[in-house]
Amino acid sequence: MLNVAVLISGAGSNLRALLEAAEDPAYPARVIAVGADRDADGLQHATDFGAASFAVPFRAFSSREAWGEELATQLRAWSPDLIVLSGLMRLLPANVVAEFGPNIINTHPAYLPEFPGAHGVRDALAAGASRTGASVIQVDDGVDTGPILAQERVDIEPGDTEGSLHARIKPVERRLLIDVVRRIAAGDLVLT
Ligand code: GRF
Repeated sequence: MLNVAVLISGAGSNLRALLEAAEDPAYPARVIAVGADRDADGLQHATDFGAASFAVPFRAFSSREAWGEELATQLRAWSPDLIVLSGLMRLLPANVVAEFGPNIINTHPAYLPEFPGAHGVRDALAAGASRTGASVIQVDDGVDTGPILAQERVDIEPGDTEGSLHARIKPVERRLLIDVVRRIAAGDLVLT
């Protein structure tokens, strides 16, 4: 059984999808803890599913590194086999990546290496792209630069807004995330 910790910043809809998948006794992973960099609405999903939750408010710390040290302390307490960033809108400091890597993955609402960063959906629209995508990558020290573990194209429809396009991308992200976690748990996908 793969013990997974998930980090979020927002609604946590992708987190909820993973929690729901893990309800299946045949699914080889479980979410043991959910952390956030603020008092994120998505922490409620952890409570709904009986997983521990914690918040390490970024604004309460004097530096990214100090925030990272507390985040690492909270994560370490759960000894996670894998950390999933799913809507965490913060770059992990190098000390956190160094401690928990390579077992950190991230979902991104674009077809990396296209449109990295915090506004992948908006950037794809602004670029006039006819299609974008969803990606699951391994986290390294860069911004969405890690090895691509899974990705799939998503069409951009005429009249799409950031909201409507993101709503079409998220179900693809969730499906890819659930499958990548399953493959890691089964040993079919090894992070190095
Ligand atoms: C997801 O699309 C994630 O890839 C991006 O932000 C969104 C988070 O959505 N970084 P939610 O919080 O899981 O609903």
